Amino acid sequence: MARSASKRHDLPVRAVFLVGFMGAGKSSVGRALGERLNCAFEDLDDRIERSEGRAIADIFRASGEAEFRRLERFALRTLLRELAGDEMRVIGLGGGAFVQKENAELLRGSGVLTVFLDAPVEELWQRCAKQASEQGLIRPLLRSLEQFQSLFKSRRGSYLKASLRIETGGRTVDAIAQELGEAIKLKNLRPKKEGLTQ
Ligand code: S3P
Repeated sequence: MARSASKRHDLPVRAVFLVGFMGAGKSSVGRALGERLNCAFEDLDDRIERSEGRAIADIFRASGEAEFRRLERFALRTLLRELAGDEMRVIGLGGGAFVQKENAELLRGSGVLTVFLDAPVEELWQRCAKQASEQGLIRPLLRSLEQFQSLFKSRRGSYLKASLRIETGGRTVDAIAQELGEAIKLKNLRPKKEGLTQ
């Protein structure tokens, strides 16, 4: 059943940010969660591509990763400023965004809910390989399996600082979105400085 606009305003968190490694399902789960919560979903990388008029892979190639991180920081700041009042939004971040200290602090200070979509690294690798072959998705930081594993290992500690962790290994997008939607709506999760209150 669709939620009315006034009901939507009863939700305790005004935005949910999905974080996690490449292949975690931030965009697909984000879209499904947006539908469940009857609110808009936005992918931060899409915003960067729109404002730059070029693909993420082209930004990396022509301007380098440091410039991409600068654009990412700017896009996140702008988006957070746009979060109006109680309007609920779901946002998917690129795999490196929450690892940047400044971005993580900005999110923590903004009182939004951050959710780490976790999965075994082998499964993340397989999902990325599938997206590359089926959708032609180019990820500039997707190189060898060894490099992928070591980058995941170095980042996982940062992802674990999110308010909530959801295991996604071997699960469907709908099942993950359902669990997350219920956690947000029924358990009345609220972002807090240290962990969550229920
Ligand atoms: C990146 C992940 C990508 C994209 C960019 C950098 C990363 O997003 O933001 O290529 O540092 O892990 P996805 O996680 O959606 O692939």
